[in-house]
Amino acid sequence: MLVNLRQHCSGASAGFNNEVVIVKIYVCVGSSCHLRGSYEIVSLLKQKLAENKLEDEINLGAAFCLGKCTEGVTMKFNDEVVGGVTKDNFDEVFNKYVLSRTV
Ligand code: FES
Repeated sequence: MLVNLRQHCSGASAGFNNEVVIVKIYVCVGSSCHLRGSYEIVSLLKQKLAENKLEDEINLGAAFCLGKCTEGVTMKFNDEVVGGVTKDNFDEVFNKYVLSRTV
């Protein structure tokens, strides 16, 4: 399960302060997702990360076939695979899997 993007540890007990957990987001660029617009989703993702000043906290990556080819563009948030991403529902997906999990 994806945890908060910014996980603030209590300094005394954890031994460090305000550690930011680097979260990985992958966009599938396999052939099916490519045909369904994965590069457009990458552009939207980069734009949203910049708007929310999250570019330095999240690692973006490309993946090849995440096993949900029939659902549309597939993304992966840490270990959570989400299929059916389109430019029309991208904001909803971003809010649900990224922004709502940001402290
Ligand atoms: S090509 Fe993207 S999930 Fe299969």
